[in-house]
Amino acid sequence: VNIMSKWCVHVYDTVGSTNDIAHNLPPWNAVRADCQTSGRGRHGRSWISHYGGLWLSLVLPVSRERDVWATLPLAMGWAIVKVIKDLGVYEVRLRWPNDILVRNMKLAGLLVEQFCEDVAVVGIGINVLNRPEQINQEFPCKVIHLSDIVKQVPGLYELTGLILKTTEDVHRQMEKNGFTVILDEINAARGWGCPRRAELELDEGIRREFFVGVNKHGELITKNDSGHVSYYPPCRVKLFREI
Ligand code: BTN
Repeated sequence: VNIMSKWCVHVYDTVGSTNDIAHNLPPWNAVRADCQTSGRGRHGRSWISHYGGLWLSLVLPVSRERDVWATLPLAMGWAIVKVIKDLGVYEVRLRWPNDILVRNMKLAGLLVEQFCEDVAVVGIGINVLNRPEQINQEFPCKVIHLSDIVKQVPGLYELTGLILKTTEDVHRQMEKNGFTVILDEINAARGWGCPRRAELELDEGIRREFFVGVNKHGELITKNDSGHVSYYPPCRVKLFREI
């Protein structure tokens, strides 16, 4: 990591979850482990975290404005997309809110947790050399690894450095200009891939609509078949499935 960086990185061999270690640390600390015994995913799922993958949690300061908690997970997902693009993988994209996909298969996932009002823990899991599909039989064809798609796979130390730099840049940009600049970047660069239908699980039931993108409040924008536009704050969407 370059010496101008704000980050202090703690590296472990095995932990339960890097997010749990990170939540006791102040902003600009990062925790990486070679292996997690109880890695967590979104929606209370477990996250298979064997040797060979990148398991990293970043502690970031967050201003108290209402929209920041809705937009930070999207901005951080976009930061990871940028890192992967910089490695020469141009087909990388986001699936709402912040899964990172290549050829519709999952390369990486983010779990952003709020343990207190003005600090976020951004947990990042990237499949690099690990093979989660050997553990979960449902995974083949659904996951992809960095080693499948880049000729020279960066070491975990190097990859961590790239992520720290890019997330710091994106965070600075958000502090300075808010989310709009990043949002424009995501939309302009087809950050979500081509337009597609999605299934949204809400408290009131399941809706099938066209995914249009997100707005500056971090709300999901959809259109139904008759052209009616809806906006959903992330907390209303229990599950989002591309169909
Ligand atoms: C998801 O796609 O469901 C999110 C997966 C997030 C996994 C990462 S690995 C590092 C950090 N520690 C955890 O326990 N989870 C996140």
